[in-house]
Amino acid sequence: MTLTLEEHRPDRQRVFHRGPHPAKNGWSLHVGPVILAPMTDFSTFDTRRYRTVDVATGYDGWSATYEASVLDAMDLDVLAGLTTPDWGMIARAADLGCGTGRTADWLRGRGVPRVDGVDLSAGMLARARQRGAHTALSQGDVRATGLPGTSYDLVIASLIDEHLPDLAPLYGEAWRLARPGAHCVLVAYHPQFIMVSGMPTHFTDASGEDIAISTHVHLISDHVRAASAAGWRLTDLHEAVVDDAWVAAKPTWERFRGHPISAVFVWSRPS
Ligand SMILES: C[S@@+](CC[C@H](N)C(=O)[O-])C[C@H]1O[C@@H](n2cnc3c(N)ncnc32)[C@H](O)[C@@H]1O
Repeated sequence: MTLTLEEHRPDRQRVFHRGPHPAKNGWSLHVGPVILAPMTDFSTFDTRRYRTVDVATGYDGWSATYEASVLDAMDLDVLAGLTTPDWGMIARAADLGCGTGRTADWLRGRGVPRVDGVDLSAGMLARARQRGAHTALSQGDVRATGLPGTSYDLVIASLIDEHLPDLAPLYGEAWRLARPGAHCVLVAYHPQFIMVSGMPTHFTDASGEDIAISTHVHLISDHVRAASAAGWRLTDLHEAVVDDAWVAAKPTWERFRGHPISAVFVWSRPS
């Protein structure tokens, strides 16, 4: 299957990416020339108008209750449905925006022996440390992790992209960390859901106040452009929708039935 992204709109900035990649795993992605669309601004869709805090403040405040509020259906169940990568072949993984260690725990359960985690939030890292699923943990930014380059068979980033204003630094850092032949798996809070629900990533603090954590909308095409520009090839893409199980867990979400809630991108770095 070949996807060609070409658009000619004089009002938009043109950016040129590398040429067509040879087909692999049945997918070939030709990106270029493409157009850098104006950034989709979350405030256009925000129906909640919660007070908004930065990532470190928000996740420090959410860390004690985070695990009770995230459903595995959002990310782990979707990862379980992937046929690539072969988790058993991964010797070393980098877990970007590792949070409390849910993803690392899941990877360890699939036989990944070494998972290094990075996160901005001291509160989330403290929980991850207690959990003990990571080999090494460090406080830092996913866009400049300080982890060793060309060292990882898997770079995974789950449910963090909506906190970044621009995806290019994330995909660029993932590329720097990856060995030839590695995969980058990114689980995204689906842009369609953010827009249709008008809901930022948020939590309820101990006083009962709902607090939003700085949220950005990245269209699927934003991911394709940013990752392709970094050198990644798209190998697989899954979108999970709000189904019976979601509505059973969150009855007020009946109105979102059938809408995509998360997306999982599997990117490959050619050997
Ligand atoms: C929704 S949590 C996801 C945690 C974990 N990956 C999971 O799936 O449970 C988002 C995490 O990303 C972290 N984060 C967001 N932006 C970050 C950045 N620029 N650098 C490092 N960590 C970041 C937050 O501190 C938080 O722990």
